[in-house]
Amino acid sequence: MSKVFIGQIFNPQSFDNFDEFIDGFIIVTDDGKIKAYGNDSKKWKENVDANEPVEIIKLSKTQFLMPGFVDCHIHGPQFPQIGLGLDLPLLGWLNKYTFPLESKYNDEVFAAKVYEKVVNTTIRNGTTFASYFGSNHTNGTIILAKEAVKQGQRALVGKVCSNQNCPAFYIENTDESISETEKFIKQITELKNELVKPIITPRFAVSCSMDLMKSLAEIAKSKNLHIQSHISENLDEIKFVKELFGEKTYSEVYDEAGLMTDKTIMAHAVHLEDSELNLFVKNKTSIAHCPSSNNNLGSGRCNVQRLLSKGIKVGLGTDVSGGNSPSILNEILRAMEVSHHIAFNDSKHKVINFKNAIYLATLAGAEALAMDNVTGNFKVGKDFDALLIDIDILPIVNIEIPREETPSPEANFIEMIQKFIYTGDDRNIIKVFVKGNNIKK
Ligand code: GUN
Ligand code: FE
Repeated sequence: MSKVFIGQIFNPQSFDNFDEFIDGFIIVTDDGKIKAYGNDSKKWKENVDANEPVEIIKLSKTQFLMPGFVDCHIHGPQFPQIGLGLDLPLLGWLNKYTFPLESKYNDEVFAAKVYEKVVNTTIRNGTTFASYFGSNHTNGTIILAKEAVKQGQRALVGKVCSNQNCPAFYIENTDESISETEKFIKQITELKNELVKPIITPRFAVSCSMDLMKSLAEIAKSKNLHIQSHISENLDEIKFVKELFGEKTYSEVYDEAGLMTDKTIMAHAVHLEDSELNLFVKNKTSIAHCPSSNNNLGSGRCNVQRLLSKGIKVGLGTDVSGGNSPSILNEILRAMEVSHHIAFNDSKHKVINFKNAIYLATLAGAEALAMDNVTGNFKVGKDFDALLIDIDILPIVNIEIPREETPSPEANFIEMIQKFIYTGDDRNIIKVFVKGNNIKK
């Protein structure tokens, strides 16, 4: 039976264009697709046959619908150390904390225990679509993919590839990395789940030889797969890449390997040179902005407006556990803060506001992952990937402002959205829909 949602709807169309319906409707078919959408709830009936049975879901005055959060960059195996070990910059952090932890995912019992929580936690926080890094292990990472399938989340899942500059207990040789990647893709494809797909995942240029990166790019090309990696996150890392690959820029290294495609997303991109931006534009390659992680590891301030002004697609990533929260809401706040900080030194910088940031957290993420034909916002023909927000129980006391005039319904709705963004949390996300199914338990 189709569902008809009636009530307040916030729907980003672009960085600075939003539908803000105070009495809108969305009709969702049995198979989870948006059949009709509009700003006047009285018109929903025009979009179904007179005798077609429908379930009507009328939102309360404190509720609204918005598109689901897209996490463009998150490391599943790093969840056990979330909030820990953020006292070192990137390369030290990887060696001291992250590689030792990730190496433990050859234990499939441990992997299953962690990944059940990873998917459950991201869903609880409103992530309808995530691009996951697993570990080097094929079987362990398959467990992560199966968990996304089981819990109904939309996901890209990557077996991480690394064949150099990693400790002996957590490194592959080139042939192994390639054959295990092929095995991984085959196994995910055999799951035959339309929501969960493999993504080619060279960890970063420091830990991958040019040979390996070229082979991985070939696999991605031949199977038309997504690619994810890290780029230009930390100054020592960039120096290391220059030492390893000659005086090329970081982006030139990936471009030479064939890894910069229109289905590639690179995380961080904090310190890109101008010439590198041109390579992103030419290749239509996207960027995952991970402000919490960049702050925690002291990596630097990524200027998102600089990237957007070139037409580069940018989504948000929690980058757990460089990032200290599994919630994209947290990235929304950090993205605005970083933008404010950039403006301290650059009066021409246009500060990212909460609506811009919601776009980055939803539709822009889907665009950056080249999946905006299916998800990211509400549009007829797309899947219904949505959050039902209720600000009735705000975690921070909701005290009415005494004012002469009560705000208009339109202004009141925008205030609700602001309260959710600035003071809300997972408790306000009462339902999480992927392809029409509520997957929040
Ligand atoms: N660069 C290479 N690996 C990683 C990782 O796990 N996290 C972050 N933030 N950067 C990386
Ligand atoms: Fe990362």
